[in-house]
Amino acid sequence: ELFGNERQNSQGFNIEIEQEWSDFKALITPFMEHQWKAGPIISGQTLETSNVETVVAPYDHNQAVGQVQWAGTAEVEQALSNAQQAFPLWRDTPVNERAKILERLADLLEANYGELMALCHREAGKTLQDSIDEIREAVDFCRYYAVQARKEMSEITQLPLHDGTTAQLQRQGRGVFVCISPWNFPLAIFLGQVTAALAAGNTVIAKPAEQTSLIAFRAIELLLEAGLPAGAIQFLPGDGATVGAPLTSDNRVAGVAFTGSTDTARLINRALSARDAEPVPFIAETGGQNAMIIDSTSLPEQVVRDVIRSAFASAGQRCSALRVLFVQQDVADRIIPMLRGAMMERVIGDPTLHKTDIGPVIDQQAQQGLLNHIERMRREAKLIAQSELPEHANQGTFVAPTAFEIQSIDQLTEEQFGPILHVVRYKASELDKVIDSINATGFGLTLGVHTRNETTAQHIARRVRAGNIYINRDQVGAVVGVQPFGGQGLSGTGPKAGGPHYLKRFTLEVRQDNV
Ligand code: SER
Repeated sequence: ELFGNERQNSQGFNIEIEQEWSDFKALITPFMEHQWKAGPIISGQTLETSNVETVVAPYDHNQAVGQVQWAGTAEVEQALSNAQQAFPLWRDTPVNERAKILERLADLLEANYGELMALCHREAGKTLQDSIDEIREAVDFCRYYAVQARKEMSEITQLPLHDGTTAQLQRQGRGVFVCISPWNFPLAIFLGQVTAALAAGNTVIAKPAEQTSLIAFRAIELLLEAGLPAGAIQFLPGDGATVGAPLTSDNRVAGVAFTGSTDTARLINRALSARDAEPVPFIAETGGQNAMIIDSTSLPEQVVRDVIRSAFASAGQRCSALRVLFVQQDVADRIIPMLRGAMMERVIGDPTLHKTDIGPVIDQQAQQGLLNHIERMRREAKLIAQSELPEHANQGTFVAPTAFEIQSIDQLTEEQFGPILHVVRYKASELDKVIDSINATGFGLTLGVHTRNETTAQHIARRVRAGNIYINRDQVGAVVGVQPFGGQGLSGTGPKAGGPHYLKRFTLEVRQDNV
């Protein structure tokens, strides 16, 4: 049938979008039964180890995805020594060559869309849309840091001195950078850190999150295929105690980039400062207790759409996700029922299906923590809504999107990394108290504001401590290059990933005065 100029199928989906989905499906299908293998990669060689674990799909624990061989103490030592040895040659490789390798990696990621999407689904439990976004973001990081490296790293700043001589200032790599990445963006953040460190002229030891080692392994294979000298990258799948801890306490390490929990960031910070070695940069991107404030001038339909996406997309497993929604009392009884209605429309389930909005959470530990919080909130707060789980939800680790009304943000002691939203009503006269309560959490990652009053928007944006502020839109899904992303306070050190100042933090400056 024809509706205006748009052709739609019986469910109302635009036919061209359907076509796009089916094109993606065709790319993914060959990999839906595939079994992957991963292990430590030391200077281009994949090593066998005796510590093997089977990976299963988060949405169906009967489905094996592959096997990971974990690195041990011997591989950690080899990685450190090889990365240190390879550093001078990589640092002195012309920046244009380094950048070209990242661009070839971007092309290879695109050429392997089907396999990488299948890995996003099957290892990380990502929906179709999230899998597409994941790969696009990884590609964007590669291309963006290639461009930034050419700009930042080849530039020689000439500084004329009063005596007629000139000082020259140039950036170079620092040494061995350790990159420790999270499972929620297993390709994008993993490669974002690695490519930034490499582009800046460092050699890299990459430790992926334990839950998503298979996709990280494929990314490193592609990086080597793109022409990276083998010594410049060492890949160590493994746990924090065996791999992360010895790396971050080693004197040979010249910097650490970490994305994960605030607690782990504190551990790394302590390990780095306890070393009997030079102080080094620590780039940490951690959690949040992200709020959105909506006032009575906001547009309810837009608010509900943006709240649903901010709180529940990716099953709430984004550090940027909305956790606490502050609704002005005058509109609360209009907005809350609309929110409930929209939550009941969400489709939870198998993330490989087109109709699914929200997939599983990553593993049993995450699921249990979230279910415990829901139990606590059932006792201490008022349930607004809970979406329905699919029939076979117990085959995987699903958590039903849930919203509670609470009295104040102080009731929440820690970040809940999943599809749970808390709603607080406030009176117009209490706005500054709301702002103070958000700041009192100590976090400072994302903030959403919905209002049509520009003065209110600017007042809130100026007073709330948050690294990334979104006015009248959703607060997740920052775009590389145009929405640089990073927090303040307990949410991280900055500089912002995907922004113009990120690479600098991976470098040191050398000044040479020429007579
Ligand atoms: N950059 C992601 C987002 O904006 C979070 O890491 O959602």
